[in-house]
Amino acid sequence: MSKKIILSGIQATGKLTLGNYLGAIDNWVKMQEEYDCYYMIANLHSLTVRNNPETLRNNTLKILSMYIAAGLDPEKNTIFIQSQVKEHAELGWILDCYTYMGELSRMTQFKDKSKKHADNINAGLFTYPALMAADILLYKADLVPVGQDQMQHLEITRDIAERFNKLYGETFVIPEGYVRKSSAKIMGLQDPTSKMSKSATNLNDVVFLEDEPEVILKKFKKAVTDSDNKVKFDVENKPGVSNLMQIYSSITGKSMDEIENEFANSGYGEFKTKVAEAVVKKTEPIQKKYKELLANKEYLEKIYTKGAEKARKLASKTLEDVKERIGII
Ligand code: TYM
Repeated sequence: MSKKIILSGIQATGKLTLGNYLGAIDNWVKMQEEYDCYYMIANLHSLTVRNNPETLRNNTLKILSMYIAAGLDPEKNTIFIQSQVKEHAELGWILDCYTYMGELSRMTQFKDKSKKHADNINAGLFTYPALMAADILLYKADLVPVGQDQMQHLEITRDIAERFNKLYGETFVIPEGYVRKSSAKIMGLQDPTSKMSKSATNLNDVVFLEDEPEVILKKFKKAVTDSDNKVKFDVENKPGVSNLMQIYSSITGKSMDEIENEFANSGYGEFKTKVAEAVVKKTEPIQKKYKELLANKEYLEKIYTKGAEKARKLASKTLEDVKERIGII
C-alpha cells in the first residue's frame, strides 16, 4: 500500500521563530518516515507584503537550509520552492473562481494583516487562502501539519475542495489538518496572550531559531510570568508560565504533570533557565548545520531543483485533470 501524503509549508518572509519550529518543522521531522512528504517554501505567499527582492531570495534559501538542518532528509522528502512549480499559481487562479468573497473576508489572518499593513491591503492578501488551497490540493494531501493559526485556512481548503468535487466529481482529496497539542500555539514571551510572531516589534517577545544561546537565555529570563512563583499549568490565569511549560513540554516530551512535579520546589528563575537550556540544546546543533548548508549554494540548488521536478510530476497530473473537468483547453 502506498504511503499517505503530507504537504505543508512556511512563508519566506522574515526569520523563522521557535513557534515555526515547534508548531511545524519539528512535527514534520517526526512524520517523514511514515508519510510521503512534500514540504515547500511559500515564496509566492510572501508577495502579499512588500519585500526587498534580495532579502526574499535570501530568506527562501535560509528556510530551505533550516528545513534540512532541523532534520528533514532531502532524500526522503520532496522539498521545493513554491514558485518553481508553476502549477501552484495556475490552480490558485482557478480556485479563486470557486472561492467566495464572503468566506475570504471572514479569515482572521486577512483581518489581522489588513490592520497591520493598512497601506497595502492588496488583492493577493485577500485571495491568499485560495493559493494555499491549491498548494495542498495539487498533491492530494491527506494530512497537513500546521500550527493552530493555520487551521482556518485548512477549513476553507476543505470547503473549496468539497465544492469542486460536488460540481465536477471526485477530483480532490479532502485534507485533514494536524495540530500537535503541546505546540499548537506558542505565545510571545512578553505578551503570552498573543501568538509568537516573526513580525513582533518587541524582539524580546520572540525567539528566533537563529538566536545565539546567550540571546535565548536572556529572552527567557525576561519572559513575563506572574507573582505566584509556582510552576503550574493554567492557561487562563497563568498564561506566561503555561506558555513556558508548553515550550518545555514540546521539546522534552514531558507532560504538564511531570513538569509541575519537576519544578515543585523551584522558583521561576530556575524554571526559566531550564526552559532556555532545553531550547538551546535543541537549537545549537541545528544552527551549526544551518550555517554550513547556507554556505553551500550549489548543494541547495541541487536539492530544490530535484524537489521541484518531483513535485511537478504530481502537481501537473492534478492540474491537467482539473482543467479537463472544467473545460480549459
Ligand atoms: P507561516 O509561515 O505563518 O507559519 C508556518 C508554520 O508555523 C506555524 N506557526 C506556529 N505554530 C505554533 N505557534 C506559533 N507561534 C506559530 N507561528 C507559526 C504555522 O501554523 C505554520 O504551520 N500560509 C502558511 C504557509 C503555507 C502553507 C501552505 C501551510 C502556504 N501554503 C500549505 C500549509 C499548507 C503560513 O503563512 O504559515
